[in-house]
Amino acid sequence: MTAQELREKYIEFFKTKGHVQIQGRSLIPDNDPTVLFTTAGMHPLVPYLLGEAHPAGKRLVNYQKCIRTGDIDSVGDAGHLTFFEMLGNWSLGDYFKEDAIEMSFEFLTSPQWLGIPLEKLGVTVFKGEGDIPRDDESASVWKRLGIPENRIAYLPREDNWWGPAGTTGPCGPDSEMFYYVGDAPCGPDCKPGCSCGKWLEIWNDVFMQYNKKADGSYEPLTRTCVDTGMGIERTVTILNGQKSVYDTEIFLPLRAAVERAASYRYGEDPEKDRSVRIICDHVRSSVFILGDPKAVSPSNLGAGYVLRRLIRRAVRHGRKLGMAGETFSSAAEVVIEQSGGPYPELLENRAYIIEELDKEERKFMETLKKGEHEFEKLLPNLLKDPRKIMPGRLAFKLYDTYGFPIELTEELAAENGMTVNRAEFDEAFKKHQELSRAGSEQVFKGGLQDHGDAATRYHTATHLLHKALRIVLGDHVAQKGSNINSERMRFDFSHSAPMSGAEIERVEGIVNEQIRRDLPVSMEVMSLDEAKAAGAIALFGEKYESQVKVYTIGNSPSDYFSKEVCGGPHVERTGALGTFAIQKEQSSSAGVRRIRAVLTGRGLR
Ligand code: ALA
Repeated sequence: MTAQELREKYIEFFKTKGHVQIQGRSLIPDNDPTVLFTTAGMHPLVPYLLGEAHPAGKRLVNYQKCIRTGDIDSVGDAGHLTFFEMLGNWSLGDYFKEDAIEMSFEFLTSPQWLGIPLEKLGVTVFKGEGDIPRDDESASVWKRLGIPENRIAYLPREDNWWGPAGTTGPCGPDSEMFYYVGDAPCGPDCKPGCSCGKWLEIWNDVFMQYNKKADGSYEPLTRTCVDTGMGIERTVTILNGQKSVYDTEIFLPLRAAVERAASYRYGEDPEKDRSVRIICDHVRSSVFILGDPKAVSPSNLGAGYVLRRLIRRAVRHGRKLGMAGETFSSAAEVVIEQSGGPYPELLENRAYIIEELDKEERKFMETLKKGEHEFEKLLPNLLKDPRKIMPGRLAFKLYDTYGFPIELTEELAAENGMTVNRAEFDEAFKKHQELSRAGSEQVFKGGLQDHGDAATRYHTATHLLHKALRIVLGDHVAQKGSNINSERMRFDFSHSAPMSGAEIERVEGIVNEQIRRDLPVSMEVMSLDEAKAAGAIALFGEKYESQVKVYTIGNSPSDYFSKEVCGGPHVERTGALGTFAIQKEQSSSAGVRRIRAVLTGRGLR
């Protein structure tokens, strides 16, 4: 079965169970400053899992592109990927454990759907912890359906609890489904979830019952929800009887392109095979990040930094395969072609993807050249040391000043009969990390109450700002992104020139006037065409569902200040916003300006 067939089957199956297909969203979360990427299908649905009504209803299904970088250093083995696709179905206050498990079971085992033999399946359920009891309900449903007791493992919170996606939000106990890829158990205790590698997790049903708050406490949700996630790459691997995701049709064309670029044949050398796998994963992730409508580019910050690391790590592995001047653009083209059907944004952004990838590769190759040159300059002195040890502080200087990776310094040292004092390097590196972590924690602090009152006020303020900018600068102004936490907002928009002081003042004045008018904020659900006909602005070049929410700020449908398609949440009246002030206006990227603004004062209510 191909990835496309699996996507289609999954969506079709859940449609027969009353689910509505919704669009997957951007890889960069809209309203969660606590994480850099969308990590699961539920991530864009957080407001709805917390109680907002979803315009498409209570039963939803989709496929969603995800990035998880926590295990970036394990990528290259059989199963770890930084980018993957997740299939998901949701119940928003509709069905719960029993129906969710029955549907999962039917999809997995029915010959009409995946037809996985029962003897290949095993499951885990939550063992219970603290006030939350063992999940006997889920276990008894699995047993009734035919999963034998010895194929059900009860595991603690560490294994059978999912969420939140960032640091706050919906979460709960889960029940995970595993496929047995071994031939014999590793021992008497070998059960689903065992770390021996014979049990491969393919799907997870999460029973959302709590909202984790910024202070670390768990608040019961007023409405229980189901969130599930099936990994496409892994499921395709097991359905086709393969051992590694890199052997599936998802990766084979990409792998072949990397082999061609490196003039290397996969299977000849295990170390080089690993490098090929790393390049495949990193190039694929980079293509998806660059191809996202939010237009991230390599940088030293946030998502851009992760992208930079992925590209640079791929370049380093390319060198291990003997690639010197070649780039990964042909491999990137393969990803764009192959995934352009389900993800048309890749086709739309093809030129940008290839250009940015090439640019970053070349930049890093320059860095490597410069680092090597600096190393050569140090060499005569280093060779005077009879112990042939390169001081760690010099290795750190190469890293810190030129971005030259320690592994490469070690390689160059070894070529000259030397070793690097790694302990001293690590010490310097740790100090540097502590300093930068202190920096990022500062950024984080404000980000924790992402769905709290303050963030909601900022959310409404973005609508006022958007409209005010269009009034002052013109209708070409379109929102390109926004980032909100409880202490400030950032707003990116298309406009080619810096704003003058007078323009900034006018925008501020218009926003504050709407706040003083204490305008009501109202919401209506309608089709996208109706929304456009009603004059609503839609954002980002994003794809929307057939039914959307439209937020209007104003006194009546005909007399309003702003109307936007948006998921919410928003304040009830603009008076709650206090005073709006623009702190900074600067360039963000070519043709895009960035405003940083704050709300102060307590507002009217
Ligand atoms: N959100 C759940 C997961 O990612 C389904 O496993």
